[in-house]
Amino acid sequence: MAPDTATQADFSFVHFTDTHIMAGGNFSFPTGERQFDTSASLQRVIDVINALEPPPAFAVIGGDLTSPDLLDRSKVLTPEEYEPSYRLLQDLLRPLPCPTYMLLGNHDNRTAFHRVMQTAAVTPDAPHHYSFDHQGYHFIALDSLHPGAGWGYLEAPQLVWLRDDLETHRGRPTLVFVHHHPWALGIEWLDQVHLRNGDELWQLLQAYADVRWIICGHVHLDQDIQRDGLTMLTTPSTGFQISKLSQTRKILPGPPGFRLVRVKGLELATRVLHLHGASAADL
Ligand SMILES: [Fe+2]
Ligand SMILES: [Fe+2]
Repeated sequence: MAPDTATQADFSFVHFTDTHIMAGGNFSFPTGERQFDTSASLQRVIDVINALEPPPAFAVIGGDLTSPDLLDRSKVLTPEEYEPSYRLLQDLLRPLPCPTYMLLGNHDNRTAFHRVMQTAAVTPDAPHHYSFDHQGYHFIALDSLHPGAGWGYLEAPQLVWLRDDLETHRGRPTLVFVHHHPWALGIEWLDQVHLRNGDELWQLLQAYADVRWIICGHVHLDQDIQRDGLTMLTTPSTGFQISKLSQTRKILPGPPGFRLVRVKGLELATRVLHLHGASAADL
């Protein structure tokens, strides 16, 4: 039987993010010279996840799930135009060996997401924030999507919900997932599209010693930063990546990556796997 206290926990999970699935086309690099197939790239990541020993208990998918908006940046897409991309994502995720928990990012569309994923949203475009427990650990998924913006924001009702959720689960080691990075990474152009009220989130979370890590997507690179005892981790994309060197926008064709987290009692360990080779056999 699964333990219900964190001191007995023994499991792993994966965080993968920025899948950027686009039905009917590929991602074009700003230079226009080449294209990137985000579906094929996600398939490679899922093949590796399927080879993990032991298999993960669950997968958290960190937002920018789909991005058909990138196929033609001059258009504002309707939920109906987004739906095929969510259906394609569903198909691609089917071989995963575990349940999934999804977050939304700046390229997502809430209405299309709720419709295709058949969530229990109270309104068609309701924010998708929630929490869940596993083996004595508590996990919180936030929704930082601000429609029409590249940066993120947590509206006041979501912060009220977050405080209540943290209060209710006091004493349980907690991990928080949010798409946008709440603190600066030191990469100028990315830091302009961070979580605009990240300081508010930080102030709230630092009052809860149970919060161990904040895990983000959005930045398409791996980094970890500590701020007053709180650690923020970022995970690379399952598709194209962003330069760790350039202070201006520079997109790289890979390699795809994801984060593995191992939980044993009160010990948390993590590593990022970069898929430099063709398959799991190359790792
Ligand atoms: Fe992204
Ligand atoms: Fe993003």
